[in-house]
Amino acid sequence: MCGIVGAVSQRNIVPILLQGLQRLEYRGYDSCGVAVHQGGQLRRSRSTSRVAELDAMVLQDGIEGLVGIAHTRWATHGAPAVHNAHPHFSHGTGTDAKSAKAGRIALVHNGIIENHDELRAELKARGYEFTSQTDTEVIAHLIDSLYQGDLFDAVQSALPQLRGAYAIAVFCQEEPLRVVGAREGSPLVLGVGKGENFLASDAMALAGVTDQIVYLEEGDVVDLQQGKYWITGKADGGARVRIDRPVKTVHAHSGAAELGPYRHYMQKEIFEQPRAIADTLEGIEGITPDLFGDDAAKVFSQIDKVLILACGTSSYSGMTAKYWLESIAKIPCQVEIASEYRYRDSVPDPKTLVVTISQSGETADTLAALKHARAQGMAQTLTICNVSTSAMVRECKLSFITHAGAEIGVASTKAFSTQLVALFLLTLVLAKQRGHLPETGEAAALRNLRHLPAAVQSVLALEPQIIAWAELFTPKQNALFLGRGRHYPIALEGALKLKEISYIHAEAYPAGELKHGPLALVDAAMPVVTIAPNDQLLEKLKSNMQEVRARGGELFVFADADTRIENEPGVHVIRMPEHYGALSPILHVVPLQLLAYHTACARGTDVDKPRNLAKSVTVE
Ligand code: M6R
Repeated sequence: MCGIVGAVSQRNIVPILLQGLQRLEYRGYDSCGVAVHQGGQLRRSRSTSRVAELDAMVLQDGIEGLVGIAHTRWATHGAPAVHNAHPHFSHGTGTDAKSAKAGRIALVHNGIIENHDELRAELKARGYEFTSQTDTEVIAHLIDSLYQGDLFDAVQSALPQLRGAYAIAVFCQEEPLRVVGAREGSPLVLGVGKGENFLASDAMALAGVTDQIVYLEEGDVVDLQQGKYWITGKADGGARVRIDRPVKTVHAHSGAAELGPYRHYMQKEIFEQPRAIADTLEGIEGITPDLFGDDAAKVFSQIDKVLILACGTSSYSGMTAKYWLESIAKIPCQVEIASEYRYRDSVPDPKTLVVTISQSGETADTLAALKHARAQGMAQTLTICNVSTSAMVRECKLSFITHAGAEIGVASTKAFSTQLVALFLLTLVLAKQRGHLPETGEAAALRNLRHLPAAVQSVLALEPQIIAWAELFTPKQNALFLGRGRHYPIALEGALKLKEISYIHAEAYPAGELKHGPLALVDAAMPVVTIAPNDQLLEKLKSNMQEVRARGGELFVFADADTRIENEPGVHVIRMPEHYGALSPILHVVPLQLLAYHTACARGTDVDKPRNLAKSVTVE
């Protein structure tokens, strides 16, 4: 999704800006651009191609400067086109670096301005020209209209007129050594260097440039100059006051992790799962609340139900956990899609543990849902997150950091399996605290968890058989995924993986629900992927499979070794290692990831950056 980098330095900052954009590339974008203060003018290059292309354009256009901003855009308002790409200039009517009509304010923006139509009408009436369909351009004009010789003042005056979410970086033709940044609802960090300062939407963009990071808070405005900066925040009553925020040393990973022998990051990340799970479990000797933070014992003693808030893949790990929490810890659990929950009239219960699950920790809907829950009086919050420096971790009382490592592919894989590990640990902690986990059970559960990396490794060895299946899926338009019980969310995850990277329409159902509607879709052209663990629902599932066969549907079954489901005409079987009990969902998701991956490869899609999608969804 959109990314921001900005800098004020004593050296040409263009290479740093472009390198920062490259580090944010994996998040997904459809255009990019850079603007600098050069020779008393604002100059920019913008492209609907890759950052590498922008790099070449910048060289050709001779763009360089000590002050500049750069952006990757993921279109919301206005098509992916050069005229909609950021940076936007106030008054500017040109679209390239050679434009003579460039104005005095240059601005990049992440987020969405909800009242942009109103503002656009007002600014047009005052003579401002618009050259894009974006909501962003109104901010540039608005700041220009309020500018009276001090950019910091102009930005602070403009912000109260904006409704929605934003992180912005802006500079002005009349103040050559200054960049101003502001945030409300979208992340923005300040990077402190020696005689130079930086802005970025993610500390990762500044990896290798500075590790001294200030996390700006909601409502902050920051003024960056060559060797100094200051921040103002909103005081009670709305007045702006100067604020000191702590500078943290952050060892951000570069997004440009090596691919090694793999074709795509997604494949690499699927194969990293044994390591990611082992890292997530490292150092865990027993089932104790402090795995979730120092205050966890106290917090857990004050709750009698769990509310899980998440989006996409993370919501499916939450749905799986519901089965564990209710059957093992005997605690009621509700799972809500964050984008719905944030606007829903629900019945709050202060004795609820609110658990957010997020790979990135920056998903706008999940953050908003968390705030909504808190505003309703639910103060006990825990996040399961893969990024320790993220907003989600900073916002929640308790946290568990999964150690999946940087996940670059848009399709989430290792983040999902490590979330499941964390959620199983949470289940065990709550079960123990509530008297439902005898000592023998604890020891057995820990043994099973520790053996997981090896068990996942043996599932990965099924890849050649899955590649053969992927060839059969390549020409398909549709697919159905079936699971039961705690494997129903795994079916949902398998369908999501297939649709997001191969663009095959896929639906998942709890197998018992087939006869209530989706069976009408089944004919000889319909592949039906079935998750068949050897659990108490196996016989029921076998009957559901018969319903599919009776209608000519072709079954592709991932069956545990001892299920007695055999290959026969219309029934393809891949044998999973023996049944893995409660943790079986973590094994069964792996072949579904591989099936989606190899089908997408065979269809020739852009696996790591599927069309229309972004890695970190920081807008609503
Ligand atoms: O970073 P998060 O876990 O909060 O992201 C949530 C979803 O956007 C994410 O899981 C999305 O569904 C993935 N593309 C799925 O592969």
